[in-house]
Amino acid sequence: MALSYFKVIILTKLNMKNTIYTFLLMSVLALACCAPDDDGGPGTDPLDDLTSIPYDPQPYVIVTSSNMGTMEIPSDNPLTVDGVELGRHLFYDPILSADSTLSCSSCHLPAGSFTDNNAVSEGIDGIAGTRSSMSLLNVGYFTNGLFWDGRTQTLEEQALLPVEDPIELHHTWPAVMEELQEHTNYPKLFRKAFGITTRSEMTKELAAKALASFERIMVSSGQSKFDLVESQVGNAQYSDEEFAGRDLFFFESGSINHPGCSHCHNGALLTNNLYENNGLDMVSSLEDFEDKGLGAITGSLLDNGRFRIPSLKNIELTAPYMHDGRFETLEEVIDHYASGGHPADNISPLQLPFMISAEEKDNLIAFIKTFTDMEFVNNPDLQNPF
Ligand code: HEC
Ligand code: HEC
Repeated sequence: MALSYFKVIILTKLNMKNTIYTFLLMSVLALACCAPDDDGGPGTDPLDDLTSIPYDPQPYVIVTSSNMGTMEIPSDNPLTVDGVELGRHLFYDPILSADSTLSCSSCHLPAGSFTDNNAVSEGIDGIAGTRSSMSLLNVGYFTNGLFWDGRTQTLEEQALLPVEDPIELHHTWPAVMEELQEHTNYPKLFRKAFGITTRSEMTKELAAKALASFERIMVSSGQSKFDLVESQVGNAQYSDEEFAGRDLFFFESGSINHPGCSHCHNGALLTNNLYENNGLDMVSSLEDFEDKGLGAITGSLLDNGRFRIPSLKNIELTAPYMHDGRFETLEEVIDHYASGGHPADNISPLQLPFMISAEEKDNLIAFIKTFTDMEFVNNPDLQNPF
């Protein structure tokens, strides 16, 4: 009896000691295994096995008008249905911003042809940027640099930037990836898109690939009046006003006194994809441009004040206009071009003043409005999945 009593006491003492040790050990283990996951809740093990989720990539087939040509798609990021679907979720998900208030789609909304219709965009901290958001229509076809100044080359490279941009989503990729790894749905979407086998294989590079894939499907539907008439599909015809406007947009009529917008805005994309100074800023020397545009990237003085010539597809939907959204209306844009713009050493020689009557201006605008592609804007594959 006495012995067993003694034993019990010892055991109890030992147990208490053990309990303390066990507690300490568990705390250390908890810290070690769950530190990257913060809450350490169930299902956060980075080695979680995803292989039971089927991986069966199917090509996503882009449907667009025949005059668009083929889009270059990088061989290490083939366009798949599941890749596009993951990209669509990421594009619309405020999980990408530090305070979960903004997503890519906050500044690139379908109704504005994937612009935000503000002169310049504001990020999560309410700080205004200096540039106007750009339409993403046909962005997969732009192979001569992205952004107004061409500072990135590929959509994959571009997609990494807004998350950490202090005046856009102002977050960090490690934090975003941690949230995505712990999410109930994203590990599955990454598995289906890329065939990864564990959550720990979810990377920002894969997120960027998916975003790029989603952006590549943002193509003209081929159903705008301009596309239908120019590619002679069905019986689509321009009205007399539109036809007269087309003449002002495209042809020179043997005189320099002519808008000739197509010198720079031409081809199926309505841009030649080059960089020009179209005379927006009054400067006394090439050093004086407040926003140097291409010059800030290349370091060449002659590139100061040069910006990418944007596509005019869906231009009716993307006001205000120019890299800083300085013009509210297409009338103001045409008035700028008619004036010839502000002279500078590097102003484009194709930027010449012209006379235009009120009626001609109306006709030119009527023609420009035939570029409007509502089927693109309403394409169900491009809408918010949440
Ligand atoms: C706070 C607003 C804002 C957010 C959020 C934002 N963008 Fe943008 N986006 C812009 C602005 C402004 C530009 C033009 C910037 C410049 O030229 O310097 C731009 C340009 C782009 C371009 C270049 C288009 C072209 O034709 O060159 C792409 C592509 C793009 N954004 C994709 C994205 C993606 C993907 C996300 C989310 C990861 C995103 N944006 C989030 C405002 C935003
Ligand atoms: C010399 C080449 C050139 C010619 C000619 C030209 N443009 Fe432009 N266009 C540009 C450049 C460059 C920009 C971007 C300028 C910037 O924002 O700094 C631009 C921008 C625009 C924009 C704003 C696009 C947007 O997304 O905000 C519109 C609209 C436009 N042009 C219409 C026209 C019309 C209409 C004509 C004919 C009257 C015309 N352009 C002639 C080079 C040209």
